[in-house]
Amino acid sequence: MERSSRSEGYVLRGGRAGAERLRLLNRVKWPSTEPLLEAAGLRTGMRCLDVGCGGGDVTLKMAAMVGPEGHVVGVDRDQSILQLARREAEDQGLPVTFRRLEAEELAEASTYDLVFARYLLLHLPRPQRAVEAMVRAARPGGRLVLEDVYFPGHYCYPPSAAFDRFVELYQAVARAKEGGTRRSGCACWGWRSRPGWWRYASGSSCPPSARARASW
Ligand SMILES: C[S@@+](CC[C@H](N)C(=O)[O-])C[C@H]1O[C@@H](n2cnc3c(N)ncnc32)[C@H](O)[C@@H]1O
Repeated sequence: MERSSRSEGYVLRGGRAGAERLRLLNRVKWPSTEPLLEAAGLRTGMRCLDVGCGGGDVTLKMAAMVGPEGHVVGVDRDQSILQLARREAEDQGLPVTFRRLEAEELAEASTYDLVFARYLLLHLPRPQRAVEAMVRAARPGGRLVLEDVYFPGHYCYPPSAAFDRFVELYQAVARAKEGGTRRSGCACWGWRSRPGWWRYASGSSCPPSARARASW
């Protein structure tokens, strides 16, 4: 029997604690997310969608990039994190719309110049369905930008048994709560031949730890 994404738990904490964790994630990831969005052609005046936007860290950066002539919509299943995102948008004076939505229930068609999702697919029991909905939401000639993770690829040097155990446990708990796999970062390479996907580019990045960065 298929598992419904609505009835699935979410393996991480949402709300305020979740928003704080995501802010830290964005500090580490923005240096690779920003060039990815630029390479995908994000520019002034575009209409964009951020699916599984969390606290809106990327949504707000995108809003600043598209400027007042563009518009960005952020959607997430977590109402409490969306409230925090709305407040942050107000504080920054950015015209962003945040809506509660299950990724698979995205029903808009041919609406956005660019559709984006970061670290969403690994939490979904049927990531391809969400990706298909995102492809439909993009206008003809629009862009779909997916940034995700291949969780088994985490490593620690020097080796740490505790870290290896964390990687193993996280995947086991997430599998039990969410279904799906934690491998979507690589799995989406295999979806490129879907009808309607015209041009495809992929890459990988490995953010260094804060300690390694400080020693450069
Ligand atoms: C790891 S966070 C990433 C947040 C944001 N994209 C970022 O990079 O900062 C994953 C987000 O996906 C949301 N999420 C999980 N399952 C979802 C679903 N089925 N539909 C919509 N959002 C979902 C969670 O509430 C959470 O905010």
